Amino acid sequence: MIDIKMNHIYHGDCIEILKSFPSKSVDLIFADPPYNMQLKKELYRPNNTKVDGVNDDWDKFSSFQEYDNFCIAWLKECKRILKDTGTIWVIGSYHNIYRVGAILLDLGFWILNDVTWHKSNPMPNFLGTRFTNATETLLWCSKGENFKKYTFNHKLMKQYNGGKQMTSVWNIGLCIGNERIKGEDGKKAHSTQKPQELLKRVILSTTNPNDIVLDPFFGTGTTGAAAKMLGRNFVGIEREKKYISIAEKRIENIKTVFPESAWLETIKEEKPKVAFVKLLEKNIISAGELLYTRKRYSKKAKILADGNLNYENNIGSIHRIGALIQQTPSCNGWKFWYIFKNNKLFLLDDLRGEYLKLGL
Ligand SMILES: C[S@@+](CC[C@H](N)C(=O)[O-])C[C@H]1O[C@@H](n2cnc3c(N)ncnc32)[C@H](O)[C@@H]1O
Repeated sequence: MIDIKMNHIYHGDCIEILKSFPSKSVDLIFADPPYNMQLKKELYRPNNTKVDGVNDDWDKFSSFQEYDNFCIAWLKECKRILKDTGTIWVIGSYHNIYRVGAILLDLGFWILNDVTWHKSNPMPNFLGTRFTNATETLLWCSKGENFKKYTFNHKLMKQYNGGKQMTSVWNIGLCIGNERIKGEDGKKAHSTQKPQELLKRVILSTTNPNDIVLDPFFGTGTTGAAAKMLGRNFVGIEREKKYISIAEKRIENIKTVFPESAWLETIKEEKPKVAFVKLLEKNIISAGELLYTRKRYSKKAKILADGNLNYENNIGSIHRIGALIQQTPSCNGWKFWYIFKNNKLFLLDDLRGEYLKLGL
């Protein structure tokens, strides 16, 4: 057994490397394993351009049995390495998540939630033979039914969600734009880079500052980037060297932002709590209106009928979208967004005051 090197990416096969790690040594595991998509041929759009799907060698298994044996092997090691207070998240699509779920249960893990990642900007079904597939599932598990003292930051996540309990459906866009890492040829550097927002939620909700987060399928290092940003330690394993150098470069540029204690302080409400949607209900604002960021009003988001915002296909509360734009763990949306009323720019917080004056 070796001592695990913190904030380091191990190169090689995860099963072999996991075997060398001591038991009960990490606080959280996030695993984004191969999907085993079983793609038989390349897919083309109606205009004959090739669809850039998951057709990598690392995703190829000769049979379901081979895939299952692989999953049993790495998940067994994960269970051994996880602390008793720790939990594991495994993400997958319909191609693999049911097999992985059955294996997790067979190994004695206890499913706490099946979180649906709802992609607000999914890839269309080009052949028109099925519904557009717009979800992936994250299974969140403790080590077993009797392992009840696991980390879950309920209050923090409620704050993160603008004062409302967060549900198990997460609306997050696919990783596109500036966030998507590209090679020199301008093409995606990795076929399945996950959005940072997804990992931010996973890590914020189920670890504490300075905890150790292990990702055995590290890819471009989304887990490491989110862990560093939130003041946690990461350990990555990846079998392809080319992804390791991408991840190292990416993580090097990440800055750790303030920890949760400071964050909670900054978003403490001096005014009574008001749900943003109340302003819509009282016609103080309307669906379809735009909110702007102050900095030369460079960013804008559209108000949706349910009180969420749509910013470049990312759907979320005024707080969450504010945090996304600033790349911080949190944001007080009331003090971040501006709105035009009668040709004047108002801070959203002023409209909250207007609502409170109504004495509702
Ligand atoms: C679905 S991708 C993970 C993507 C990652 N979450 C991200 O955001 O970039 C799976 C990764 O696991 C790696 N991989 C596949 N089999 C592996 C194995 N046996 N050991 C270590 N890494 C493996 C692949 O090279 C690929 O980068």
